[in-house]
Amino acid sequence: MSDLLRASAIGTGRVRLDGPDKVRGLAPYAYEHPVEDPLHLFPLCSTIALGRVTAIDATAALALDGVVRVITHENALRLADTEDGELAILQDDRIGFRGQYLGAVLAETPETARHAADLVVVTTEAAPHDADFRPDHPAVREPEGGADDIDTGDLEAALAAAEIVVDQRYSTPLEHNNPMEPHTTIARWDGEQLTLWTSTQGVHPARQTLAPILGIDPEQLRIVSPHVGGGFGSKGLPHADMMLTAMAAHAMPGRAVKHAVTRQHMFALTGYRPATSQHLRIGARADGTITAFGLEAVSSSSHTKEFPEMAIKPSRQMYAGEHRRITQRVLPLDIAVPSWMRAPGEAPGMVGPEIMMDELAEACGLDPIELRVRNEPERDPDTGMPFNQRRLIDCLREGATRFGWADRDPRPRARREGGWLIGTGVASATYPASRQPGSKARIRHEAGVYEVGIGAADLGTGTWTALTQVAADALEVDPDRIALRIGDTALPNATVAGGSTGLASWSAAVLAAADAFRCEHGTAPADGVEAIGEAAENPAEKQFAMHSYGAQFAQVRVQEETGEIRLDRMLGVFSVGRIINPRTARSQLLGGMTMGVGMALHEKGELDPRFGHVVNHDLAEYHVPVNADIRSLEAHWLDEEDPQAGPLGARGIGEIGIVGAAAAIANAVHHATGVRVRDLPVFGSDLL
Ligand code: MOS
Repeated sequence: MSDLLRASAIGTGRVRLDGPDKVRGLAPYAYEHPVEDPLHLFPLCSTIALGRVTAIDATAALALDGVVRVITHENALRLADTEDGELAILQDDRIGFRGQYLGAVLAETPETARHAADLVVVTTEAAPHDADFRPDHPAVREPEGGADDIDTGDLEAALAAAEIVVDQRYSTPLEHNNPMEPHTTIARWDGEQLTLWTSTQGVHPARQTLAPILGIDPEQLRIVSPHVGGGFGSKGLPHADMMLTAMAAHAMPGRAVKHAVTRQHMFALTGYRPATSQHLRIGARADGTITAFGLEAVSSSSHTKEFPEMAIKPSRQMYAGEHRRITQRVLPLDIAVPSWMRAPGEAPGMVGPEIMMDELAEACGLDPIELRVRNEPERDPDTGMPFNQRRLIDCLREGATRFGWADRDPRPRARREGGWLIGTGVASATYPASRQPGSKARIRHEAGVYEVGIGAADLGTGTWTALTQVAADALEVDPDRIALRIGDTALPNATVAGGSTGLASWSAAVLAAADAFRCEHGTAPADGVEAIGEAAENPAEKQFAMHSYGAQFAQVRVQEETGEIRLDRMLGVFSVGRIINPRTARSQLLGGMTMGVGMALHEKGELDPRFGHVVNHDLAEYHVPVNADIRSLEAHWLDEEDPQAGPLGARGIGEIGIVGAAAAIANAVHHATGVRVRDLPVFGSDLL
């Protein structure tokens, strides 16, 4: 085990390096990249959920002044690989979901393109579709990637013998990533060379995915994405909008084509969190010890491309229990393609179990924190390995102290103030701690400045700043002498900003490069010298079950007459290893918790099964928490370092903030009102 990197810049709350440029408009997003004489793309999208295109008449659109081209499956670029149903667009006449790309209009102005798209007459033949998510649907099946069920002991016998049983169904709805910057791309082909200025969580992974489908070598594709205005997972994998723009630009060699996905189109085209159903059957002794743990999770998916929302993930390692059956299934439907949304798996997967824990605590007459203490596994029940640093109980206890949990009256409806019922709730958070191998960093010295190049991404969360701090400590120089360059495939390879692995993975590359640089060039290097380093796998991941933990506390008030729910305050305590930058870390955790508030109280994609689309497809009708919804929000962390996480001693923090937040709020609503809501989000109307 290597020693921890000595921290000098690390641990300081340095302000965002990109901040001044951001507020002065000098940090262009993809769509703002200056290109000469661009064409503007507006897509044609399907209005049926299943069937085929029988005719496309573009005559009226093409007659419009300023319209240059209409691209459809009849004239689009033939792709080299059509395996990926989401990305292999415009290859035939088939329609798999409402909102699917059927073509594109290219015009001299965005207004002309949009108007012309309306003039294109697309005739379709509809087939009977199925867009209705029901966990008991006969087509529910194992995920394509394998089920990986857990089945140990004898669940049924243990349930039959249990003194206390909780048998309940929980559900989470469709939820939609809505970064402030929508998905945008500018594409230009210069001969055999394609450049995409786009908004992505990983330029190299996007290139690895897109190049083979386009039938070009990765070296023929350059992706540039220095500034990203949020992603929440929706920019983690390339979606069809990038492909459409690249294909459209192919028809216009040498000309840049610009495409910004509209907010409404984002609900069908750029990924979202699918619905989950979680059937929990838990058996316990009267003292709260869980003996039987049964979880059947089903998530909705798309026939166009499968994506399982692995809601079982956290339960694999969270709770002790000798007899366990944990299964994940999917239901493919004729709907848009789901994808990553902040803490895929864990965020919805901790809703059912953590509300269940509240119900079990009530059934046993135990404090919910004490119940969790009694059900802490000593080793990972999934792999049998020891945990790296499982400090869930420390988080719960410190949170309890900070929040003021001790004097809580456990009875529901016990606290009333001027027509409002007040309640508090708690839930656990967890997220895996891993590091991806393969990122490379290049360090070059020039006139006292170290240029550090790596194709990493900063989604607007401060990674640019934190990685600069890591580079400064690795080279033992002031951060002002580091010039970090990210977000370009012209820089050394970097893994995706996903799974909360970004900073740890890229830091490993930067540390390796710094080692190589110091070894080759010493501490007083000549100008122009450079060195490259590559991130290796973290060997500890083979010996330890590596996870982060946290505790979420919430207080809500519910208006007795109207059911109106207000969040009074929320407090989280997290065990995430060493904190690189407390300012940006706190912001990440608060952002995650705020999204958890959305999960609990606001967010629900209303999919109309008759038509197969999400009806509330904009921010006027799909509600996310705004400032007025958040009164007091606090994020704390345990003062710790995790030597198993590598020389940085840090684990990822991008996602754990959302996990458990919704359950804590739902539990607080129950404590306030006595009403148990098991289907998120909790609306006031559920409480009357
Ligand atoms: Mo995160 S949803 O893995 O980008």
